[in-house]
Amino acid sequence: MMPRTSVTLENAERPSLLRNTSERWGLIAVAFHWTVALAVIGLFVLGLWMTGLSYYDPWYRQAPDIHRSIGVLVFIAMVARLVWRIFDPAPAPVPSHKRWEIKAAHVVHGLLYAGLFAVMISGYLISTADGRSISVFGLFEVPATITSIEKQEDVAGWVHYWLAIGLIAVAALHALAALKHHIIDKDTTLKRMFTRS
Ligand code: HEM
Repeated sequence: MMPRTSVTLENAERPSLLRNTSERWGLIAVAFHWTVALAVIGLFVLGLWMTGLSYYDPWYRQAPDIHRSIGVLVFIAMVARLVWRIFDPAPAPVPSHKRWEIKAAHVVHGLLYAGLFAVMISGYLISTADGRSISVFGLFEVPATITSIEKQEDVAGWVHYWLAIGLIAVAALHALAALKHHIIDKDTTLKRMFTRS
């Protein structure tokens, strides 16, 4: 029988499933990735749908409230994700990836991070342009800060709309690249974003 101390040491050395290793993403990074990805796609669809609602539609006020509330929660999740990323560095690229693919992936991931924040900040500037705070599902309020930009609601609205379209286009490219790695190259790029490879 193995001495008890040796078993304890082996367990201590086994990498935690929660954290990234050099070869795969950990559960926390995976949860952040798929929760934010789902929320962003949902926010995009909801955003497009709600702009077409008439004043008399029962969802006319409720849909923007839900859109704003989820937007604030995604912002909080993204700040937490970035902080977590400092303590839990990303895995090394999949060994079969070419140099240009690694560089392209870095650029696309950087665009996704920057785009997400830019979309969320412009959304905040639309919602708070008239000095009103954002109520997040009635749980807490995010106060207005900047209200002095000329035609703030219109300018931020225009920026928010086009940045959201750009973000979804980049996310679609990113998803296609992940699928190309999975289906054509048959490597572990997509599988390891579900933590098992
Ligand atoms: C709006 C939707 C999405 C956003 C905003 C998004 C964002 C990101 C970001 C920022 C990263 C880099 C993570 C980091 O370095 O910390 C990443 C990685 C990844 N994403 Fe997405 N993503 C989205 C949708 C998708 C979809 C639909 C797929 C699959 C079909 C996918 C597959 C992957 C994979 C496989 C990685 C890991 C790449 C690697 O290991 O180098 N993503 N994503």
